[in-house]
Amino acid sequence: MIILGIESSCDETAAAVVEDGRIVHSNVIASQVALHHETGGVVPEVAAREHVVKIVPVVEEALNKANMTWDDIHAIAVTQGPGLLSSLVIGVTAASTMAISLNKTLIPVNHISGHIYANWLDRDPADPIQFPAMVLTVSGGHNELVLMRSHAEFELLGETLDDAAGEAFDKVARLLGLGYPGGPHVSRAAEMGNPERYDLPRAHLEKGSYDFSFSGLKTAVLNLVKEEHEREGELSQEFIADCSASFQEAVCDVLTDKLVRAAKEFKVKEVHLAGGVSANRRLRAMAEEKVGGKFVLRYAADLSYCTDNAAMIAATAFYHYEKAPDNYVIPFSGMDAGALADPNLRMYSKR
Ligand code: KG4
Ligand code: ZN
Repeated sequence: MIILGIESSCDETAAAVVEDGRIVHSNVIASQVALHHETGGVVPEVAAREHVVKIVPVVEEALNKANMTWDDIHAIAVTQGPGLLSSLVIGVTAASTMAISLNKTLIPVNHISGHIYANWLDRDPADPIQFPAMVLTVSGGHNELVLMRSHAEFELLGETLDDAAGEAFDKVARLLGLGYPGGPHVSRAAEMGNPERYDLPRAHLEKGSYDFSFSGLKTAVLNLVKEEHEREGELSQEFIADCSASFQEAVCDVLTDKLVRAAKEFKVKEVHLAGGVSANRRLRAMAEEKVGGKFVLRYAADLSYCTDNAAMIAATAFYHYEKAPDNYVIPFSGMDAGALADPNLRMYSKR
């Protein structure tokens, strides 16, 4: 089954053609990073306008790169939420309109589920993913521990009480005068730094909790930066590197501790990292150290699958459709094409 995926939940306009949830024929991403660099973050109105400009060319490019025409596409998948409403509406409207006019099944997809299914892309069929799996989803907008017992079945064990890990990376990058998005900049600076230079707080919360909190850590970095400004004026390269490394170590420590504890408690077969922050090399290495031989550790086969993309949306759509094909239809003409967009969409069963 060949699915065209569309993603526009935040600041990337993306389209991809994926076969059977695994084989990526094309994966086109029009990034707005340069546009949001000046403001140090995403301005929703600016992002939405850019999606309007990019969405049709990006879809055309995805078809061209896959060497396919609309006749080859069996269904259209689109991110329904969560995300920025004004951004979601553009993707959802485009996908619905294409589905109506081309007579294709429309498969709305949850964005976080998309990040989880990025780990299925390019997988060797001889090494299939085994359930149950414990998944850590870490992005700019979400930070969750999810127990996955089978396809499309997600149980939420914990989530962030304040900032997501990626958001903390972005805020710390801003404090240190680094670029947007912060994660890659902080992790690059951290490579030169000493992670033991500053003993930053690790919020484990009450005993047994699988929730996260990064606001205390962020405030501790803010205080360090203020003190350094008062003492030295300018922030030195050495300070930026050591502060980045100490911050990154604290974030990765808490994330991996909870991930491994949950994996043991629920006796899973595999442990997965998903979302933008799963591109972080220290997080991957620390997870490997702690998981080491006990569980199969997975993360995306390609770094471009970690951050927002449409291949992960097409992959999710495949596994959801396979499980319940009757849930999905060809949308009727005359429907409100943007109405599917849901900025607060949830996908979990309660524990
Ligand atoms: O999944 P994503 O593209 O968008 C959301 O759904 O939020 O994640 C973006 C987040 C940003 O906060 C970015 O700073 C972070 O992922 N990120 C990283 C790295 N690459 C991206 N954080 C830490 N280390 C990285 N290498
Ligand atoms: Zn995302």
